[in-house]
Amino acid sequence: MDKIRKIVEEIKEKGEFPSALNHAIAGYCDTLTAYAEECDTIVEFGVHQVCSTWALFLGNPKKMDSYDINDCPVEYAKKLSSEYGVEFTFHKKNSLTCDIPFCDLLFIDTDHKYSHLLAELTRHSTKVKKYIILHDTTLFKEQLVDAYRDFLAGLTHPDGFQWAIKEIADPIDSRSGRGGAGLTVLERKEK
Ligand SMILES: C[S@@+](CC[C@H](N)C(=O)[O-])C[C@H]1O[C@@H](n2cnc3c(N)ncnc32)[C@H](O)[C@@H]1O
Repeated sequence: MDKIRKIVEEIKEKGEFPSALNHAIAGYCDTLTAYAEECDTIVEFGVHQVCSTWALFLGNPKKMDSYDINDCPVEYAKKLSSEYGVEFTFHKKNSLTCDIPFCDLLFIDTDHKYSHLLAELTRHSTKVKKYIILHDTTLFKEQLVDAYRDFLAGLTHPDGFQWAIKEIADPIDSRSGRGGAGLTVLERKEK
């Protein structure tokens, strides 16, 4: 994982969150990697600059499926994943209509609107065994916090499990002294 570790260190180094949206993931790489380390199978929604993809890769999953509605620059990620034995597939698909495989962790960083996130959580949460991680929950809190709270409040799973908030991460950037874009981790609880 040395090459991937180097890429993640570069992403963290370049991070200028929260002003630069493109680097908004930089402050959360360690958190993403730590949760990924507990997981064999990962699904990612929202690939864009491949930053979160690399941070999740560093957790050394066995299998990772990444989805984006647009083309994303994943060629190097594909090459390194095969070098490191990670089964990685990029899907150019809409998270609102695609079907995902069962997974341990679902990371969501797509369109930060209430109805969009609620629809993603409602459609896919039954396929997720451990964690759902939501990015930008501080930056877009008016939309996203209501969406995941309504998801949690409306849950009636026949399978007998629940989702609960495990962690809300909003670290202060050491350079700017400002808070980050926000990351919320939901954990599946068996009843
Ligand atoms: C904020 S960027 C993701 C940043 C990425 N996590 C990173 O670290 O570089 C949001 C991405 O979500 C994608 N997106 C928006 N709506 C989507 C949808 N319905 N299904 C799949 N991807 C979507 C966009 O094309 C965009 O690439």
